[in-house]
Amino acid sequence: MNFDDELCLCFHVTKRKVVNYLRVEKPSRPGQLSDCFGAGTGCGWCRPFLVKLWEAAAAEGEQAPELPTAGEYAAERARYVRAGGGTPPPGATPVVAEPTDGGGALPQASSLDAPKETS
Ligand code: FES
Repeated sequence: MNFDDELCLCFHVTKRKVVNYLRVEKPSRPGQLSDCFGAGTGCGWCRPFLVKLWEAAAAEGEQAPELPTAGEYAAERARYVRAGGGTPPPGATPVVAEPTDGGGALPQASSLDAPKETS
């Protein structure tokens, strides 16, 4: 995923906006990313990815996680929505057409405020 690709397809929030929000605002909880143009408050698909970016930012110096390509990301979101994972709000980036590759594992949509594991 490139920085100008949408990370939250429901509210058109790019990866760049999220990364800059994390850098400038330094949210103490992943749930605070909803203040970044509503990221994560639509269908819920992007929440696990927001949490990953938050975790990397919280562990300063940690390499940002690899995210799927924009096309893969949109296709997986479509599977998630079709499976009843969530409903995009009006104005969201439309769900892409049915993929023909047979699908794949869906990441778990979880609460943005899930406690962070410590070790
Ligand atoms: S893609 Fe972010 S809430 Fe739907």
